Amino acid sequence: MEPILQIKNLTHTYGVGTPFQRSAVEDMSFDVYEGEFLGIIGHTGSGKSTLIQHLNGLLKPTAGQVLLGGKDIWAEPKKIRDVRFRVGLVFQYPEYQLFEETVYKDIAFGPTNQGKTGDELDRCVRDAARLVGIRDDQLDKSPFELSGGQKRRVALAGVLAMEPEVLVLDEPTAGLDPAGRENLMANIRDFHRNRHTTVILVSHSMDEIAQNVDRILVLKSAHVLMSGTPAEVFARADELLTAGLDVPQVTRIAMALKERGLDIDPAVYTVEALEQQILALRKGGAVC
Ligand SMILES: Nc1ncnc2c1ncn2[C@@H]1O[C@H](COP(=O)(O)OP(=O)(O)O)[C@@H](O)[C@H]1O
Ligand SMILES: [Mg+2]
Repeated sequence: MEPILQIKNLTHTYGVGTPFQRSAVEDMSFDVYEGEFLGIIGHTGSGKSTLIQHLNGLLKPTAGQVLLGGKDIWAEPKKIRDVRFRVGLVFQYPEYQLFEETVYKDIAFGPTNQGKTGDELDRCVRDAARLVGIRDDQLDKSPFELSGGQKRRVALAGVLAMEPEVLVLDEPTAGLDPAGRENLMANIRDFHRNRHTTVILVSHSMDEIAQNVDRILVLKSAHVLMSGTPAEVFARADELLTAGLDVPQVTRIAMALKERGLDIDPAVYTVEALEQQILALRKGGAVC
């Protein structure tokens, strides 16, 4: 399968030529495949936000390239606007960027810039609102009348309404309560499943990543530390812990059980998989 995005030896250095010069992304290379759900995880300061702002051309590489559909996004700088429409980026705390009088107008802002009008615009706005659980009767309200979680949904709908080929979300559940987090993730999962759009989810929660993505990229200090399926990455749980990173709660329980002598594969990361293993042990008479 052809990658939709190719990141080749990407470096981003802030404050070049000043005493504060620092590379937030250093020689990173990886591919993103069409239709996949990729998770990017790493500590605060590991370079996640800097990295993803290159995917739609908000930042320009200090060195290296970003290819979208096989083409360097900076080959024709005048066309960078098209890249921003094709790769939709939802910032962290996007609710602070709402500014229109009504929810409808806020969601319509991006697609209007794309040149959509009339029925097509109306369809994009209503479809996007529905995808994130904004009701029709909320569309005429001021976004400022909504709760924090609802405002975030409006901001997400504004990006979805542009019908991007790749949706990039920077810590979309940060600051929400557990129910709000799960609710929003369910919307994002449904969107990915139904539209087959490529989704890139940045998170600092291993549990959130483990429960949602097909493949994980682990960042550490401006570099890619690991990349693989959740099973491959969590099989290296010891390395993650040594690097000061977290592992999913389920993996931690499995590791503790193995340490106590039970024949358990510590690379599990879902409650169901751990349950299966424990049930198998019971059948074998290893657990009473
Ligand atoms: N605009 C900026 N100017 C200078 N340094 C920055 C800027 N944005 C981020 N940094 C630095 O780059 C590093 C990576 O930051 P960031 O990409 O925000 O990481 P993350 O999203 O993983 O927390 C940090 O050390 C941060 O302080
Ligand atoms: Mg960040």
